[in-house]
Amino acid sequence: MSDNEPVTTDKLPQHIAIIMDGNGRWAQARGKKRVFGHKAGMERAREMAETCGELGVKFLTLFAFSSENWNRPAEEVSFLMDLFATSLKNESKKLNKNNVKLKVIGDKAGFDKGLQKAIDKAEALTADNDGLTLNIAANYGGRWDIMQASQQLLTSGRELTEANLVKYLATGTAPEPDLLIRTGGEKRISNFLLWQAAYSELYFSDVLWPDFDGEQLKLALADYAQRQRRFGKTGEQVTG
Ligand code: IPE
Ligand code: IPE
Ligand code: MG
Repeated sequence: MSDNEPVTTDKLPQHIAIIMDGNGRWAQARGKKRVFGHKAGMERAREMAETCGELGVKFLTLFAFSSENWNRPAEEVSFLMDLFATSLKNESKKLNKNNVKLKVIGDKAGFDKGLQKAIDKAEALTADNDGLTLNIAANYGGRWDIMQASQQLLTSGRELTEANLVKYLATGTAPEPDLLIRTGGEKRISNFLLWQAAYSELYFSDVLWPDFDGEQLKLALADYAQRQRRFGKTGEQVTG
């Protein structure tokens, strides 16, 4: 956080999910190439993980690369893959020191072998940590997730129930996100956590991701703390 004001913890979300959007526009507004924004966005993601860890958030899921992002110009895709690989290599020691458990959720088979190895290594290094769980959603799509979970359930021969299906979703044992933030001004889900976000509180910010700092997170948390989560019940039932 950029100042010392404490955030109220009584209504702190356990799980925050973020669609980190607006990197390209952030760079273009500065007369730079889009990839410059991805670099700045990566720095911001690292900072966000640190802040969430400090606040006591248990799960942070960051949408870094969607199944549809492969359709971008080859040069941008390849920059993003390189940035991902370099960041894994450079950051995993620090994450480990900070007791962060890193997981990459998404179709890892879509990455080249070197990147797959770097992912496995970072996940193995941090597997026993019990601080923040940091899920990086890469080559992730909500439809893919539901399909791969269904496939696994089918193979297991278990009964088709919601509880059984959920066990196979990429987010694993994490609770569903309490708060889903999208930066960059668009108001859509873009195939993010389609199943898991069924009852998430949505927060849309016009701020472009590289500018979404601790102050901005604080605004989102304050907004979240005001919400009444009803899960289909009446307000009276919820306040008891
Ligand atoms: C989000 O920023 C990062 C990725 C999707 C990889 P964008 O690259 O989508 O930035 P804008 O939306 O074009 O500004
Ligand atoms: C969503 O952003 C994916 C990520 C932030 C990784 P996009 O920029 O790809 O979403 P659309 O295309 O505007 O819906
Ligand atoms: Mg975008």
